Amino acid sequence: MDYYLECTRCGSGFDNDYGKQICAKCGGILEVVYKGRLKIPKSAIFWDYESELPDSKYTHYALGGTALVESNLHHGLFLKLELYNPTGSFKDRGSVVEVAKAKEYGYDEIAVASTGNMAYSLAYYARTAGIKTTVFIGGAANPNKVKDILMTHDAKIHRVHKDFSAAQDAAIKYSRRTGAFLAGDYCYRKEGQRTMAYEVAAQLKGFTHIIVPVGNATLVSGIAKALREMRINAGIIAVQARGCSPLAKAFKRRKPIRYETPHTKADAIAVGNPAYGDEAVREIRESGGAVVTVEDKEMAACQEMLYRSDGVRAELAGAASIAAYRKLKFGKGDKAVAIISGGNI
Ligand SMILES: Cc1ncc(COP(=O)(O)O)c(C=O)c1O
Repeated sequence: MDYYLECTRCGSGFDNDYGKQICAKCGGILEVVYKGRLKIPKSAIFWDYESELPDSKYTHYALGGTALVESNLHHGLFLKLELYNPTGSFKDRGSVVEVAKAKEYGYDEIAVASTGNMAYSLAYYARTAGIKTTVFIGGAANPNKVKDILMTHDAKIHRVHKDFSAAQDAAIKYSRRTGAFLAGDYCYRKEGQRTMAYEVAAQLKGFTHIIVPVGNATLVSGIAKALREMRINAGIIAVQARGCSPLAKAFKRRKPIRYETPHTKADAIAVGNPAYGDEAVREIRESGGAVVTVEDKEMAACQEMLYRSDGVRAELAGAASIAAYRKLKFGKGDKAVAIISGGNI
């Protein structure tokens, strides 16, 4: 659909030929604002939502449309199996939008900061589109993910010997210096990721809660946007690792997000300064939801439990939503959807 971009910090507007994801005036994150009325189809097929995505020339890769099943663990707990996307996580939904836009604007290189899954996903689709990927990855990244990025998709990797937030700064500087398309947790990714909530709505009538693991908070913001678009009232439950929980603290103290050094083995959600954090806090509160923290050992226990009960082999971040579910009290008629966000172990 036709759209324009609006800066979430200073309110500046940009036409859709702008070709960047950061505000030229203040460096703020941009938001996609659609010009027409969305007609969201009741479908669990990713490309049925093409007209609900920012206009571009999309290649129809086989992604999304992931299964939603009731778990054998608890009655009323449903699993949205995002680990069965082609690169093992929900990131593919946003990557196909970013790659299409990069191609449309004529870029031949993408720069991205990642904890692993995003770079793996972007490099996969960029390569098929003939675009090279340069990845900035934090010191605590999972070595298996780094190996996959290098071996499968030809990407160039810069290790940043600090955390993800430092990698993000490095990617921004690199894209300014070289003119590479800055991809990652920005506006186009958020648009792709919101399709997950469209699918959930098509797959499960009357769900009451949606449980979402949080790193940079792009997924939770995308889901909140989609629920608003569909006028669905469901409580958004965000989950963070106890050792990296800036969102939980901001939510509790009713204060803006403050950076904290991540201490968690759940590498995919080890983000100390979530880019969409303040927006996510607002959205979660408005939905009547909550932010829950879980210990690494609780995620590990749920990882094992999920494998035994449902045959689903999630990574730690992917099992975080189950750990959160077990900490909360749900009513008899509640239907909670746990996003099993990734399976790259
Ligand atoms: C498996 C997995 N779960 C959850 C997240 C968190 O998503 P977001 O950064 O959009 O909050 C990520 C992000 O990398 C991820 O890879």
